[in-house]
This record gives sequence, structure tokens and C-alpha cells, in this order.
Amino acid sequence: MICQVYPLSFQDSDGDGRGDLPGLLSRLDYLCELGIDAIWLAPVYCSPMRDFGYDVADFTGIEPCFGSLGDFDRLVQALHERGMRLVLDFVPNHTADTHPWFVASRSSRNHPQRDWYVWADAGPDGGPPNRWTSRFGGSAWEYDAGTGQYYYHAFLKEQPDLNWHNPEVRQAMAEVLRFWQARGVDGFRIDAAAVLAEDVKLREDPPKPDADGQTPEPERVERVYTDYRPEVLDWLAELRRCAEADGPSLLLGEVDGSGDRIVDFYGDAGRPILHLPLNYRLIDTDWQGPLLRETVEHYLTLLDALGPEPGTAGARQGGPGKPKGWPCWAVGSHDKPRVARTLGPERARLAALLLFTLPGTALFFAGDELGLEGCPVPSEQSRDPFERQLPGFGLNRDPQRAPMPWSDAPQAGFTTGEPWLPLEPGHEQRHVARQQRDPASMWSLYRRLIALRKAEAALGVGSCFGFFTADALLGFQRAWAGRRLQVVVNLAGTPQVHRPDDGRPARLLLSTRPDPEAPGSSEGIRLEGYEGVVLVLD
Ligand code: GLC
Repeated sequence: MICQVYPLSFQDSDGDGRGDLPGLLSRLDYLCELGIDAIWLAPVYCSPMRDFGYDVADFTGIEPCFGSLGDFDRLVQALHERGMRLVLDFVPNHTADTHPWFVASRSSRNHPQRDWYVWADAGPDGGPPNRWTSRFGGSAWEYDAGTGQYYYHAFLKEQPDLNWHNPEVRQAMAEVLRFWQARGVDGFRIDAAAVLAEDVKLREDPPKPDADGQTPEPERVERVYTDYRPEVLDWLAELRRCAEADGPSLLLGEVDGSGDRIVDFYGDAGRPILHLPLNYRLIDTDWQGPLLRETVEHYLTLLDALGPEPGTAGARQGGPGKPKGWPCWAVGSHDKPRVARTLGPERARLAALLLFTLPGTALFFAGDELGLEGCPVPSEQSRDPFERQLPGFGLNRDPQRAPMPWSDAPQAGFTTGEPWLPLEPGHEQRHVARQQRDPASMWSLYRRLIALRKAEAALGVGSCFGFFTADALLGFQRAWAGRRLQVVVNLAGTPQVHRPDDGRPARLLLSTRPDPEAPGSSEGIRLEGYEGVVLVLD
């Protein structure tokens, strides 16, 4: 169980309205009580904060608004004392334009670090070298008047791309990993892992046939030459070897896309790549029973086809019907609209049930456990550079970054100052202290689910089989050492009756409702609208 913490929005300790490391440290018991095993900490490196930390000016320093290296060390120690691990965000694709490497690189065409970034001459028309577009909108090329060439940036122009074709760059980034490992970091979430390479011949990305004026400009092309290039897998495999050179380390990776794409990032026994490519398909898929079932089953089948990886964190010991690659399902992040916004509050409870009962690592974004829905922020007031560059397409990431509401204290206990983003409306009803007292709350459901997941080996390491959809019901089974569980969710708002096949008697282990009916009867099990259950099949 991994919880992503966006430090700016978690807990402020000094009243500047932005969350920081001492604030996070003061809330570790909260995370521990919830039962999570590790936190993924979004970037806290030195940064001009154009992209709120994903523009790194020094990979081995802490941005003062977050605290100091001493605070970081204290955080690692405190996590370890509580039996939790730290997965640090690692941003290998680009730096800030204020990073000394880029300052050196742009200083002259002859500088030894010139080739650390992606430079090209103007195109035949005297404009950018080609038509590649930034994921944040506009050309992906920025002209540098000082040296008369363009540099490439997959994201903001203040985030120039490192040139991973250059072995010195790969070496330098490997050293960054080692620096943090030596400070006790247990793993890394590799940011933008699929976009590390661009075609060296600068070939044009073709237009997407179905794109139109409603499609945000960056999504109007198939990124065949700027995304998922084959060499990326080699470089990540190299990073993995380096990360594991001195002991175990966990590599998560941001690889958006279909299940087939994600699975490539596991590699194979001969060339292991990431332990846990992140999979957001549970929230990116249309919540129609058959589609959802197909998404999950297809992914597990793909993982089944991967060879087992003996002796690594991703390994599973054989056994019939069990996936050999270890999935990592995620229901939220600082980039995605909140699950409770996308699916609605009731189905978000079902998403939580699936998250903790499907095989694999469960990952959620701090605040999902409160059912937060995000705070609408109008374009004109947006802090997010994505929204500012492409207003009106619904891309704003500010809403999900609203500060955590902790209590009914002023500013919900997040800060004594002015929060950097507004608290979400309704926080008075949803804050942590209130939800902890309420057995019907989302927080209480998360807590019950995490506890059940830990108590039931079948949910942890058991096989997964018996998928079915019937009317609005979706279900599957988990089994281990003679214990058989069945998970069933009702995707509709009206009651449904579930009849366990072969008429096996079933006992209720958990319901997403706080006051479930006693289920077993010869007529079957009645699930209320949007109810999900875990049953024991005797
Ligand atoms: C990743 C991060 C996102 C950031 C982008 C550029 O997608 O998750 O927040 O804006 O990379 O670094």
C-alpha cells in the first residue's frame, strides 16, 4: 500500500501556506495509523517552482520552502522507525532552465556539457527544427539567441530536456540515485519515464486521425518519435541495475497508456526494468461492467504472460492462475482529477474496494481516503502552468492539489497562513478528525480495507480468477491456502441480487456500507445500490 504525498498540500509547519517536510513529519502517525507501507513523495528538490518542483535546479538539494536536508534525513528516519518506506520522485527527463548543467550547456556551442541537452539548428524555413509539440502546448523547441540554436522541451520551456543519448547524462543521473539511496531512500518513482528519448533524426510525429478542434493541441499528434522510443527501455534497465547495485530498491514509473504499453516496462527475467509501472486504468476506463472487467482481466493476463522474476520485489511464487508480474493499481495522483470527482462519491467507494482487493500494490493519492473531490479553480486564477498554457480544455491540475483538510481549526489545520491553493468546498464535513470519528466515512472504509488486505493472505498473494459480470454486478475471486474470497461490486444505484455460483454458502467479510444487511440466504445476496462486498465462500 503506497500513498502519494504532494508535500506542498499536505501540512504546513511555518505558516507560509505551503506544506513542507517538518509538516509531513508531524503527520506521519496519521499515515501509519491508516496502515500504509510506503509514501511516494513528490519532488522536494531545489526548484524555481514553475512546475511546482518538477523543474529541478539541484537534484541533491532541498528547496528551502520544504525545509532542509536535515529535515529530509529526519523524515527518512521517522518513516523507518514506523516500519514505512520512502519512495522519492525522480525527475530524469528534464531539469529547470536554472540548473547549472543547463546554464553551462547554453553558454556556448563548444561547452563540454552542450550535448547534455537536446540542441538543433533551425528548420529550412528558419523556424523551429520541426513541428514537435510540447505536452504543455506550443512548439517543443525554444530558440536560444545566445548560441543561435533551439533546445527541446517536452514540457515547459523552463524545463529543457536532458539528452539521455549521452552516456555522461545517464551516469550523472545514476549518481543522483545513489546520493539519495545513501540517505536511506527505499525507492524511486520515475517521472515521465516513457518520454526520455526523442528520435535523433527529428522525424515528424504524424497527426492523430480522430483529433479535432476540441482535442487539446498536444494530443493532436501520435507521439511515435517523442514517446515510448525503444532505447528508453534499455536506459531504464540500466538505471535498475544501478539502483539495485548495493541492495534492494523499488522502481515505480510513470508510463501512461494502454495496458499493453505499460507491460513493456516490466522487461523480462533477462532484462528487468521497472518493478511497478503505474497503472491508472481503474480510473481512466469507462465504468461499464464489461469494459471494466475487460480492462482488469486483460491487464492480469498480460502480466501472466511475463516470466517470473525470481528474488526481486516484483516476484510472485508460481501457482495456478496467478499473475507473475506484480500489478500496481493507482486511483489518484497530483495530475489526475480526483477519483471521487471522476466517478462520483459512491463509485469512489467501489474503486477503493477494487483497489485493495485486486492483486498487486495499491496506490492512492493522499486525500483520496477522505473522498476529496478537488477544489474548482477558475482558469484566470490557476497556479498550474498546464492550465495557464492551455486554458479551457479541463486540464487544470490545481483542483486535486487543494490542501489536506485535517480538522475544524482555521484553514482546516493545514496552515496558520494563507493556503497556496484554496481548500476544497465542504472540507468542514470531510476533514480527517471528523471522518476518523465516523464509521460510515470514506476514511473508515479505507482503514477497514487496508486492515483486511493485511489480514487476508488471499488478497495479498492469492490467485485471482472467476471474473464475471451480470447485470450491474462485477465480481472475481481470490484464493490462497484453501481460503476462497469473492469480491462483488454493484455498479448501479439500484439493488441487485448476487447468487454465488454452485450455490456455495457465503459469509460477509466486508461491505462498503457501514451497516450491511446479513447477506446469506437461499435467494442469494442482496447488494444495495453502489454496494461492494467481500465474501468468504465456504
Ligand atoms: C510528470 C509529473 C507532472 C509534471 C510533468 C513534468 O507528468 O507527474 O506533474 O508536470 O511530469 O515534469
